Amino acid sequence: MIKLIPVTRLQAGMYVHDLNCGWLQHGFVRNRFLVASADDVRKVREIGVTEIYVDTGRGLDPDALPAPDAPESAPEPGPQHTAPAPAEAPAVHTPAKAASSFERARALHREANQIVRDMLGDIRLGKQIEMEKVEPLVGRIVDSIFTQQDALLPLARLKQHDNYTFQHSVSVCALMTAFARTLEVPHETIREIAVGALLHDVGKARVPDEILNKPGKLTDAEFDRMKSHVVQSKIILQATPGISPIALDVAAQHHERFDGSGYPNKLAGNAISLYGRMGAIVDVYDAITSDRVYHKGMAPTEALRKLLDWSANHFEPRLVKAFIRSVGIYPTGALVRLESKRLAVVQAQHADNPMQPTVKVIFHTAGHYLRPEDVDLRRSQDRIVGHEDFAAWNIDALRWLPQ
Ligand SMILES: [Fe+2]
Repeated sequence: MIKLIPVTRLQAGMYVHDLNCGWLQHGFVRNRFLVASADDVRKVREIGVTEIYVDTGRGLDPDALPAPDAPESAPEPGPQHTAPAPAEAPAVHTPAKAASSFERARALHREANQIVRDMLGDIRLGKQIEMEKVEPLVGRIVDSIFTQQDALLPLARLKQHDNYTFQHSVSVCALMTAFARTLEVPHETIREIAVGALLHDVGKARVPDEILNKPGKLTDAEFDRMKSHVVQSKIILQATPGISPIALDVAAQHHERFDGSGYPNKLAGNAISLYGRMGAIVDVYDAITSDRVYHKGMAPTEALRKLLDWSANHFEPRLVKAFIRSVGIYPTGALVRLESKRLAVVQAQHADNPMQPTVKVIFHTAGHYLRPEDVDLRRSQDRIVGHEDFAAWNIDALRWLPQ
């Protein structure tokens, strides 16, 4: 029998059926194995998941063992776990607070897109960037991420084809803020990173629209012109009074690659600043999860898996893993398939358990909608078995975002 148990109950002699951390690297060659020693127990706990699946047919049955006298830490309530749920189990959010954060996030997202659109228009006309407009906007985006990142991040992923450049700027700003927060970067530095993220592509204002929006493959000459946007961003920002060196690094290095294969300077490893290394990851994540004229956006979980693959060359592996922690393995707003053959939209992350977010169940794979139901997967027998594409199921992504 397969049982889901808190990792605190794992003992030598039990048989791990599933480490409950999917494809996220965990250092074990196989997902299924006999826990042979206390050292194995320690290694499993170090993965950071709170619950795992054990096979009682192939190893000790946790329920047949005497309860430990003093667990090392309070166990999470699980479906097979008969201890009373701790009263202090963290709530996802209170409905009243959530409603106002989500409304504010939507208004901020609209406003931010408008401000960046106007700013890029001004740059095209040869005007300077006005930091007195940029800084308050960035301050609000940073505040929004710190208050309720589940509200702004899923909005940032949804873009309209013809408005990509400025929507991408807002999105990268929000994602970089969440990323820097996970890395515990000091707050003042986060604001500077966020300014750089919002402005990283301003040089595109000096690239012709027909190249920016060309549906087909760019010629070599066009690609060179496209790549010039990085140098143009740097030139524009260097001429902007009040810009910080950190913001400049984000913009000037977001196309450099960890193995030295990027541009414009082919910098490698730590020759790229931390902010440039972060910017590269976020820029690519947002680009490949967005629908463009010439390609359909990838599901966020699939995009994270790609980033992990590419971290063999292009990105710093440590930072890719931190980024995955910051947005969640199943990011909020993503469509997922459950073991029960139901589809659900991720509504909220739990920092202590990235494999079991709170989801809204909406659809059955047999082809019909269900009465929407919020399910905290930490407290459910059900679990995520894969990610799905909204378009393939003809489901409106915006309709099911957290409200
Ligand atoms: Fe760029």
